[in-house]
Amino acid sequence: MNALPAVLTLNSALIREEFAVLNQKINGHSLVYLDNAATTQKPKRVIQALTDYYERYNANIHRGIHTLAEKATLAFEQTRETARDFIHAAHVEEIIFVRGVTEAINLVASSYGESFIAEGDEVVISCLEHHSNIVPWQWVCEKKKATLKIIPINDRGEIEMDEFIRLLSSHTKLVAVNHASNSLGTLNPIKEIIRHSHARRAVVLIDGAQTGAHMEIDVQDIDCDFYCLSAHKMYGPTGVGILYGKKALLERMPPYQGGGEMIREVTFNKTSYNDLPYKFEAGTPNIGDVIAFRYAMEFIAELGHENISSHEQELLAYASAKVGSLPFVTLIGKAKEKVGVLSFIVDDVHPFDIGQMLDARGIAVRTGHHCTQPLFARLGINGTVRISLAVYNTEAEIDLLVDALRRIINFLKQS
Ligand SMILES: Cc1ncc(COP(=O)(O)O)c(C=O)c1O
Repeated sequence: MNALPAVLTLNSALIREEFAVLNQKINGHSLVYLDNAATTQKPKRVIQALTDYYERYNANIHRGIHTLAEKATLAFEQTRETARDFIHAAHVEEIIFVRGVTEAINLVASSYGESFIAEGDEVVISCLEHHSNIVPWQWVCEKKKATLKIIPINDRGEIEMDEFIRLLSSHTKLVAVNHASNSLGTLNPIKEIIRHSHARRAVVLIDGAQTGAHMEIDVQDIDCDFYCLSAHKMYGPTGVGILYGKKALLERMPPYQGGGEMIREVTFNKTSYNDLPYKFEAGTPNIGDVIAFRYAMEFIAELGHENISSHEQELLAYASAKVGSLPFVTLIGKAKEKVGVLSFIVDDVHPFDIGQMLDARGIAVRTGHHCTQPLFARLGINGTVRISLAVYNTEAEIDLLVDALRRIINFLKQS
């Protein structure tokens, strides 16, 4: 991947030129977009790649022999190679295209769960999980009469490692945790989690929804068995994601869905299946969005993971200090290691009201339980206001947020 000119490296003003959507007024104010954990904005090159595909070489892939089909197939498969490189996977066939992290987890729960989880087995998840890393495992456990075990957290929002180690047993078949929490930002010690799980012969799935755009991922170094990513949280299009799985495991797993592409031969008596990765990619995929996803990964790689991380960590520290010092505000989630997510509550004010009043000033944040209801039940709150950072956010935007919050709080506390 070619490096961007040094001058563009995390020069927020230049980076922002890639994102036309940021340059607009919302409710009369310049947009301040702080909802990146829900979805990031898309740089011009991603939108252009999507337009190019539909304007110049829209065709179905793999099966065609005509020029457009060959071009589309080549571009589609190029994204797979870019993704392999991006997460440092050993083999390109370990990259399965899915709709996003939700589908990636459902695929593993359904396919791996169906074949390798049995009565009396245990599945371990953490208290920090998104609903998409809870519900599929509840289904598997219910169906297979297995037990779902939950790793507890401390009051800072960190996994209790001693408790985790105690939970592991010879019955543990699978451990599924997020790399970073979408609600609190906690960065989990996944290498350690994987090492302890493997010592018990359990396979490990990592939900990387909140890390793909923010830090380097090396699936061989962390030695996970499965890793899940959503393109739309990585400056890419919606409706595309990646399931990485170790080849030896994927080969032993049955297909997830039946249909075209995933077969080698079909007769009315018997069907044999295609090789990896196609065994798991039944039907016509989301071709245009997969093609455009490549440009999002290249964008991240060109900026450089270290640059991205130091920019977002600096902003997080700045925002934590400023927001945390406001009267009536309590920060929720004080893990030592975090990604750029800051959750907070304001005494006696519903997060939704804060979110609406910030929107009136052009500031986009998320409010509520962020699809982590069990986490908030553990913390004893209904939800938070959440800001989440990306490469295009600036200190000036945090200042606008803090100023708006100060005014809102003054107004609410006086009325
Ligand atoms: C930690 C985490 N896991 C899973 C998901 C689900 O991702 P998607 O909706 O892209 O499938 C999200 C989305 O917010 C998330 O933050």
